[in-house]
Amino acid sequence: MGSPEDEAYRLLQEYSNGFMVSQVLFAACELGVFDLLAEAPGPLGSAAVAARLGISCRGTEQLLDACVALRLLRVQVRTGEAVYANTELASAYLARASPTCQQHMLLYMARTTYLCWAHLAEAVRDGENQYLKAFGVSSKELFTAVYRSEAERLQFMRALGDVWSVEGRSVLAAFDLSPFPLVCDLGGCSGALAKECASLYTGCHVTVFDIPDVVQAAKRHFSFPEDGRISFSEGDFFQDPLPEADLYLLARVLHDWTDEKCSRLLARVHRACRTGGGVLVIESLLDADERGPLTTRLYSLNMLVQTEGRERTPAQYRALLGPAGFRDVQCRRTGGTYDAVLARK
Ligand SMILES: C[S@@+](CC[C@H](N)C(=O)[O-])C[C@H]1O[C@@H](n2cnc3c(N)ncnc32)[C@H](O)[C@@H]1O
Repeated sequence: MGSPEDEAYRLLQEYSNGFMVSQVLFAACELGVFDLLAEAPGPLGSAAVAARLGISCRGTEQLLDACVALRLLRVQVRTGEAVYANTELASAYLARASPTCQQHMLLYMARTTYLCWAHLAEAVRDGENQYLKAFGVSSKELFTAVYRSEAERLQFMRALGDVWSVEGRSVLAAFDLSPFPLVCDLGGCSGALAKECASLYTGCHVTVFDIPDVVQAAKRHFSFPEDGRISFSEGDFFQDPLPEADLYLLARVLHDWTDEKCSRLLARVHRACRTGGGVLVIESLLDADERGPLTTRLYSLNMLVQTEGRERTPAQYRALLGPAGFRDVQCRRTGGTYDAVLARK
């Protein structure tokens, strides 16, 4: 104990510096480093990167070398000059041209989530989300009415879609959904998961249900297959009639809300659901003892700082689904960040 080689001391350093790692990643995305290197015909030196992005040489040199240390970029020395290129990680997940790019989510985390986390201690003290303190608007307003701009709403919608380009198939294939031809994705946002569903289950039709502003933005700014198997419906899932369906998807919806509101929503879903149909809840599941996985524990704190909800264990989802009228509740872990819970009417 009390030495620089001490494992506990090293762990403490790693934890306390964690935010710097995130910021290097966020800044490199924000400045367009990975896109520039993806589009360049070959590796570039830091002066060329700085010149093309219109940013300082001093800062660029440091940022690029930090990205190398984080294995986001690779470096080689050519005729005495260090030149940089994307690693496989950056090519797959950080360059906009990649179909599995996660940049929108990283930028949303940089511009919104990170600012809320600056108030974590207050969130724990008050037991409330920190939107008001971080942005001067309540989380209710952020979800249901005004974003600070149309651009911010789009940023959020694109951000939410990123993960389904990587994990959409595994959550939708966790159970065989082919017996459910009519699917309704409640809180389906930009339709990103609906598109994965329609491509995996070629016989199904998916209705994306969301609040009017989100549906309008989805129709205006996102593209959909022309075979008509994805359609939209606008409304408030706590109040308005829900489209009839064999299967309702609730992906990252229940974690936004209190147990009381989840129960209310699930009871409405049960009433609307066709007999023999069901609901597929897609969330990041906590372990039974609620101690992990670490990512899900952190996501649950994120729900504290950004929403009124929390992440839950399989038993906690069962306790919500059963009283709402659902039976045969089955939970499947996918090995990814998001898992699937299927329950039948
Ligand atoms: C955390 S996002 C999840 C989006 C999407 N299901 C996903 O996993 O990418 C929650 C979604 O629920 C929608 N939503 C929130 N309140 C709603 C309401 N009262 N009625 C309908 N949709 C609502 C939001 O607009 C948003 O698209």
